[in-house]
Amino acid sequence: MGPNEQQLLEALRPVTDPELQMSIVELGMVKEVSSRRGRVTATIALTVAGCPMRDEVTQRVRTALLGLKGVKEVAVELTVMTPDELQAVRAKVAGRSADPQAWGGRQSAPAASPAGHQHAHGPGGHGGPLGHEQGRPNPFGPQSRTRVIGISSGKGGVGKSSVTVNLAVALAAAGHDVGILDADVYGFSVPGMLGVSEEPTVHDLKMLPPEAHGVRCMSMGFFLDDEQPVVWRGPMLHKALEQFLVDVDWGDPELLLVDMPPGTGDVALSMAQYLPTSEVYVVTTPQPAARKVAQRSAYMAKKLNLPMRGVIENMSWWSMPDGSRQHLFGEGGGAQMAEELGVPLLARIPLDPALREGGDTGEPVALAAPDSEIGRAFADLAEAIVKRGRARVFRSELTVR
Ligand SMILES: Nc1ncnc2c1ncn2[C@@H]1O[C@H](COP(=O)(O)OP(=O)(O)OP(=O)(O)O)[C@@H](O)[C@H]1O
Ligand SMILES: [Mg+2]
Repeated sequence: MGPNEQQLLEALRPVTDPELQMSIVELGMVKEVSSRRGRVTATIALTVAGCPMRDEVTQRVRTALLGLKGVKEVAVELTVMTPDELQAVRAKVAGRSADPQAWGGRQSAPAASPAGHQHAHGPGGHGGPLGHEQGRPNPFGPQSRTRVIGISSGKGGVGKSSVTVNLAVALAAAGHDVGILDADVYGFSVPGMLGVSEEPTVHDLKMLPPEAHGVRCMSMGFFLDDEQPVVWRGPMLHKALEQFLVDVDWGDPELLLVDMPPGTGDVALSMAQYLPTSEVYVVTTPQPAARKVAQRSAYMAKKLNLPMRGVIENMSWWSMPDGSRQHLFGEGGGAQMAEELGVPLLARIPLDPALREGGDTGEPVALAAPDSEIGRAFADLAEAIVKRGRARVFRSELTVR
């Protein structure tokens, strides 16, 4: 005879949630636990779908159950709490902690990943219904005060991520409150370029985005090992992006820059749906032929009814020691594209090895050398985007034409 349900629950009672440090039984995280011929199945509901501690929780549950006499095998299934269940958890946590300050602020939030803990799998990795349709508000819905700036290009390698990161630090340096959403879930590069060394922490059941140089950011890079290939199916990708919005405490930034993956696929569609007030800025190189590919993202934006606000030309020239400019990648592509799209050319950013070096070391050039030619180009771009103001066109719904 294996243990009965009561015995199983008693064995789980001492198991604590790594973040909340309360019994998982107390917290109502144990949805189901049963045993049949020495095989135990436990269903555990996590507080956030992308819970960075899911492996740790699974491990603790397994260890506790395997310690019981007669238990040979343990299968742990993870689900996610419903908003009502979460509410109950909040009440319990609040009841335990008489001092709300104990949970307040980034410093005192429990660390999501103590030393030695493996990287968690990313959001969307396991099922479970979640999302604003389940009652979690999307902080970037139509009412949001945040200006959402999508940095896109139909072409890869033109500098979208470099522009996003440097623009963000230039905006922060000018006193703006900025976040970056790295929507390039396959080829994330923002954490490295921005120099984020910490991982997201969890506070009040939401992930707090780590911050560097005054810019907070959320990226799939926090959840995956660099070498690990990312294979997302469409719906998982959609879910992961959704969780980056609804399960992250963004703190109502003034601007949210979205580093888009190259191309015009699934991600753009998801982002258009979740970020209905997105403005789109296209990055291109000066080569007139390159702009045709880069421009595809502008057509995509048009199909999705997102306002195209401007063109950013990158790798525009190489400044020689005598002050002359070498146009290594041709000339005029940015201006031509801007004219074709009927939007301003907002910046021409020179080639500078310091940009790549800053990306490698996590010290963005716009911050490390604000008075250099390239540093000024980013400061000017930041100013131009702020001056441009919020787009007045709001989409009321997603329509794909
Ligand atoms: N103005 C510049 N001067 C020098 N190097 C640059 C410049 N802009 C970008 N680079 C370099 O070009 C490479 C590609 O840049 P980046 O990763 O920002 O492009 P991307 O458009 O985001 O690429 P992907 O399509 O792969 O996401 C990087 O090595 C970056 O350091
Ligand atoms: Mg990129």
